[in-house]
Amino acid sequence: MAKPKTTYVCQNCGAIAPRWAGRCDACGQWNTIVEENPEQPLAAGVQLPKGKSRKLQPLAGESAPPPRIATGISELDRVTGGGFVPGSALLIGGDPGIGKSTLMLQVLATLANAGRRAVYVSGEEGLDQIRLRAQRLGVLDAPLLLASETNVSDIVATLRRERPEVVVIDSLQTLWTPVVESAPGTVSQLRAGAEAMVRLAKKTGAVTLLIGHVTKEGQIAGPRVVEHMVDAVLYFEGDRGHQYRILRAVKNRFGATDEIGVFEMRGHGLVEVPNPSQLFMGDAGREVAGAAVFAGVEGQRPLLVELQALAVPTTFATPRRAVVGWDAGRLAMVLAVLEARAGVRLGQHDVYLNVAGGMRVREPAADLAAAAALVSSLSGRPLPAGTVVFGEVALSGRVRAAPLTEQRLREAAKLGFSLALVAEDSQLPENPGLKVERVADVTALAARLLRE
Ligand code: TYD
Ligand code: MG
Repeated sequence: MAKPKTTYVCQNCGAIAPRWAGRCDACGQWNTIVEENPEQPLAAGVQLPKGKSRKLQPLAGESAPPPRIATGISELDRVTGGGFVPGSALLIGGDPGIGKSTLMLQVLATLANAGRRAVYVSGEEGLDQIRLRAQRLGVLDAPLLLASETNVSDIVATLRRERPEVVVIDSLQTLWTPVVESAPGTVSQLRAGAEAMVRLAKKTGAVTLLIGHVTKEGQIAGPRVVEHMVDAVLYFEGDRGHQYRILRAVKNRFGATDEIGVFEMRGHGLVEVPNPSQLFMGDAGREVAGAAVFAGVEGQRPLLVELQALAVPTTFATPRRAVVGWDAGRLAMVLAVLEARAGVRLGQHDVYLNVAGGMRVREPAADLAAAAALVSSLSGRPLPAGTVVFGEVALSGRVRAAPLTEQRLREAAKLGFSLALVAEDSQLPENPGLKVERVADVTALAARLLRE
């Protein structure tokens, strides 16, 4: 038999390279390729063992909804779609230091206090550190069991004996399987560890919460290869300089994926923010050139967010574009459309775009607000006081209606806004509660903002 060849695996994206290289061809990251032992492939020509023929089932049929373990933390229950499903495995991703361990310890303590059997396995911190955190969170008396362990075999043996209903593994990157001959934190180790934990979840019915660190670029280092194994992927995001944290479901086999939960990081842990619609408004209220309030929707909830743009004449050969909280590609598109369709020239300007409060905006409907902020910054004229903006901008320059127009308008009216700039073909409710102006395209938007 040929001796197994070693493979080279990118620790960022999981791509396999034929030889070592300084830069991964697949994702472009530097210094991420590591030599690993290959998993046993199915050799060519090997026959699969003969299988049994199975009876097929009709699609129609009664099926009860899955049982749920509600956590009592309503922002988390909202994101999971009503609580954890027994036997499911969830990946909790986020930057180091964002608050994953804090959130998970709070969740486990709440469940333990409600009489659930809960186990916290940490390979990142010792028992003393976990106790210190629990003390800070005021949950030191919760009947919660701890282990400081990284060896997957030991963890599995322990959990099989203890039979918890909920277990946290902190973190995937520290798991270590003795039969895999790569260092902890490599893709092979991560995959093997996650596989063992997911299998155990299905077998014992324990809700298994796997914490995974994300790289700066927003990818879970390595465990992107884990995303397909788990039932749900929740990202914990936010800016460490701000106190707000957002838990976002990017995959959920048991619920919607567009819901977010909002928390505030305080001195004694994370606190729920049940009504977040005005958290991300920045200086709204003061009239500043370059600021536009976007009436957004996250999941079922309207959320008003301020977009801030700054355009200054450049001193560089290639003007700078920097964006925080929004997609850089989208900014480039809006800039190009403004220039080509409305004659708003920003080619000689550095452009900065920031979403207030550390929020990340993903809706295409934010285009029009970004365009308004850019036009306002360039012209030095603030938007009319009390204005919200939403609509998607097409490459033709046309503004397209956003879904859930009524919810956006109602929330804006509720928060005291008096004017909304929306797409021409928006479906307006009978009585929106504020003045609504339709803009057909970016030219009309620019004209509207430069009027008066
Ligand atoms: P942590 O949960 O350790 O982050 P992660 O597990 O995602 O790496 O959170 C660490 C940060 O949160 C740390 O910088 C301190 C801050 N923090 C608070 O502000 N208040 C608290 O009550 C706790 C426990 C942490
Ligand atoms: Mg941690």
